[in-house]
Amino acid sequence: MYVYDDFDRAFVAERNRQFRDQVARRIDGSLTEDEFKPLRLMNGLYLQLHAYMLRVAVPYGTLNPGQLRALAAIADRWDKGYGHVTTRQNMQFNWPRLTDVPDMLDALAEVGLHAIQTSGNTIRNVTSDPFAGAAADEIADPRPYAELIRQWSTDHPEFQFLPRKFKVAVTGSPDDRAVTKAHDIGLRMVAPDMFEVIVGGGLGRTPMIGKVLRDRLPAADLLPYLEAVVGTYNLLGRRDNKFKARIKITVHENGLETVRDLVEARFAEIAPGFDAAATQAHLARLKRMFAPPALGAAGDLPYQAARGADPVFRAWADTNLHPHRDSGHAIVTISLKAHGATPGDVTADQMRCIADLAERLGHGEIRFSHEQNIVLPHVARADLPALHKALKGQGLATANVGLVSDIIACPGMDYCALATARSIPVAQQIARRVEALKIEHDIGPLKIKISGCINACGHHHVGHIGILGLDRAGVENYQITLGGDGSQDAVLGERTGPGFAHDQIVPAVERILHTYLALRTGPGETFLHTWRRIGLAPFKEALYAA
Ligand code: HEM
Ligand code: SF4
Repeated sequence: MYVYDDFDRAFVAERNRQFRDQVARRIDGSLTEDEFKPLRLMNGLYLQLHAYMLRVAVPYGTLNPGQLRALAAIADRWDKGYGHVTTRQNMQFNWPRLTDVPDMLDALAEVGLHAIQTSGNTIRNVTSDPFAGAAADEIADPRPYAELIRQWSTDHPEFQFLPRKFKVAVTGSPDDRAVTKAHDIGLRMVAPDMFEVIVGGGLGRTPMIGKVLRDRLPAADLLPYLEAVVGTYNLLGRRDNKFKARIKITVHENGLETVRDLVEARFAEIAPGFDAAATQAHLARLKRMFAPPALGAAGDLPYQAARGADPVFRAWADTNLHPHRDSGHAIVTISLKAHGATPGDVTADQMRCIADLAERLGHGEIRFSHEQNIVLPHVARADLPALHKALKGQGLATANVGLVSDIIACPGMDYCALATARSIPVAQQIARRVEALKIEHDIGPLKIKISGCINACGHHHVGHIGILGLDRAGVENYQITLGGDGSQDAVLGERTGPGFAHDQIVPAVERILHTYLALRTGPGETFLHTWRRIGLAPFKEALYAA
């Protein structure tokens, strides 16, 4: 895990000192809201529908127990006792008072966290695989590279005023758990120290799947190459229309070949100014900081016994565990999607419970996932029954990871000033309904993703079932897309037809689920496979006939 050095500490302390002064000037009236806005956004402070919102970066989703406890303390002291895990591995606090924000930032700095570049037209929090450093299918841990990019991009003078926000995701596994193809730049490791560079993906108003800009980029060239890509975008990206300002539009309007030629030319020009040997040496140092924990040998008798004796444990183990590279260990996903709960919300008590469990049973490692869950990447199989029991005590043992009720939902109209419809209640109602019907384990892997407006914070375009809330003459209307996929085979969902009213959206989803159950070849065929085999027509029939 990366630990701040003196430079990092001094840098964040100075930023916090500056911001404290800016907040004081806003409060005494010497700064207007218009003058204050760009300053607060540079420090992750938004103005939402009802209150300010502070977005804290969790770089590549990695936290230690002390950091999670600090987030819990902030939630208790300066917010309403909970935090919200987002789709970009951030934690959002929805109710801070402006006067408290400088103290909140200082409390974060004490544990090596901050809110810098979580907003504004800059390179945002670099995201990664929540299973990084643990996954059985991993080529290498992507986090040292993500940290390298974070250090390079933080306060980079050339990239503080890009045409628009810029998002980078890195994965070290062929199984893409970081949605790299829906990012401005996606870096996919293809061999140790070798990346495929994907560019121009993104959701929002004009959703696009990223395209391969370079199929092999040695890690030593990462920084000059990224600088060439972002520099090219900075010059070429549209600034006349904010809706056309993302790099996906730059690539679309200029063509991949033109962008590639410009990037390669710029790369050739600037690469000699970068010290590749120094980058390699720095990477080696970062890799040592992310050294895997020493995993003791562990028998899994208690695990097998609990599986045999306790069906509740078995159901949880079947959905919430993923293969670890060490067969005596497992990756545990803690669902923040109890049926009827707000997706991604976690209370301060739950945070403290997870921090304690990570310390006791998880080698001190915690991750936030883009699916709005929390992951303990290294748990001995023998400890899983004890872990499950402790999680149950905090309402954190919902056995639904990857299932219908493990829904991503943006804040929507409950919080967001840009929303055109509610998202959270739709997610809650779907989850309650599938629980009442007792069908979600039968349905198997199925991802529902919901956004409250076209900005697509809830990733609806890449949901197997995507739901987009819109405003139709003052009435909430929900449009459905099917067949989207955010994995390595990323594809955008297909619109089914006219949208549904708020009280009709859950029955509509139910009809989709029953159609799938009736038409699949058997329990082994996932929703996505059935969709690919039978296409839109039967679902359309079920949704609109009547
Ligand atoms: C203050 C609340 C928020 C505001 C004002 C906001 C604003 C926006 C806007 C304007 C976009 C569209 C950007 C574009 O494509 O040009 C966007 C996209 C996005 N936002 Fe948010 N958002 C908010 C909250 C969230 C939350 C809570 C999450 C996570 C749960 C989130 C994650 C994302 C993601 C993943 C995208 C997709 C962008 C892409 O792929 O290009 N946002 N947001
Ligand atoms: S998708 Fe729209 S409603 Fe939802 S959080 Fe993003 S901007 Fe707000």
